[in-house]
Amino acid sequence: MKVLVTGGAGFIGSNFVRFLLANSDDEITVIDSLTYAGSKDTMTDFAESPRVQFIEGDICDRELVTSAMDNHNAVVHFAAESHVDRSLNSSDRFITTNCLGTNVMCDVANELEISRFVHISTDETYGSLTQGSFSEKDRLEPSSPYSASKAGSDLIALAHHNTYNLPVIITRSSNNYGPFQFPEKLIPLFITNLLDGLTVPLYGDGANIRDWIHVDDNCAAIDSVLRAGKTGQIYNIGAGNEISNLELTEILIELCDRDDSAIERVADRLGHDFRYSVDSSLVHDLGWKPRIDLHSGLEATVHWYRDHETWWRPKKA
Ligand SMILES: NC(=O)c1ccc[n+]([C@@H]2O[C@H](COP(=O)([O-])OP(=O)(O)OC[C@H]3O[C@@H](n4cnc5c(N)ncnc54)[C@H](O)[C@@H]3O)[C@@H](O)[C@H]2O)c1
Repeated sequence: MKVLVTGGAGFIGSNFVRFLLANSDDEITVIDSLTYAGSKDTMTDFAESPRVQFIEGDICDRELVTSAMDNHNAVVHFAAESHVDRSLNSSDRFITTNCLGTNVMCDVANELEISRFVHISTDETYGSLTQGSFSEKDRLEPSSPYSASKAGSDLIALAHHNTYNLPVIITRSSNNYGPFQFPEKLIPLFITNLLDGLTVPLYGDGANIRDWIHVDDNCAAIDSVLRAGKTGQIYNIGAGNEISNLELTEILIELCDRDDSAIERVADRLGHDFRYSVDSSLVHDLGWKPRIDLHSGLEATVHWYRDHETWWRPKKA
């Protein structure tokens, strides 16, 4: 199969390319505009592979997307502006890339009669909840400009399925962690600060709850959806690792040989969702289950950042 991966120079997209190289004989084209969040040094381990082609370009550029997507069987669409805090300060680019870019991707996929279109979304589109877990049928109540733009992109993709029968499938995963995550997101920011002897900025009282999934588990779930998912279906992907931000911070502090004096309490994030939780029964029905438990996944991630200072230090600067 020939697979076009958008956002393959970013965190989850690059790990998905690694997953395909290790677990399939697919040929892969990556399209990525190399924003601050995507870089060539994230792809060095697969850049020379004869199975991978890289195209630098913007998913909003219809002509470029058309020539990149031609002759492909499937699209897995990761490219997005992805950082909630950045969307609070400046949201235009989120709407452009996440909504307009997804519309271009879907239109072109429709014209070229692509057989599978996996649109990568997030559990943040559902908004926050105090009890229970969201199912794929729940209404979307996004809180931030980021999650609103992702909710918009989901509806755009589903509209292409409903109107033109484009074979769209959507994944909504919980928070990912693992290697190659840009050091502005909570886990790599905290690890790299702790390794450098700095404090870590904990929002509010640290009681907000997230359900963390190792990126390798998410990539395996996306691959199951790509190969066996039902078109028109949304699949939640969570690993059942709910933990408060304070508890998570304490684990990272211990893994980095620091103590609680490293915690710096900062004013809470605007519109901060309290808790995310998804029911992942549908993706379990495809035969997927998470394999990496939170503690060993975090331990391996701390080791990765210790060993890959040359990757993250320039990005943090
Ligand atoms: N990281 C998470 O915890 C998480 C959780 C659920 C869903 N998601 C979704 O997964 C996808 C990937 O997230 P990530 O964490 O890897 O993000 P990321 O920010 O690490 O990577 C995004 C990539 O997209 C590229 N990109 C951005 N705008 C582009 C454009 N206009 N044209 C072409 N390329 C562009 C960037 O250069 C970068 O390589 C996103 O759609 C995100 O919403 C992420």
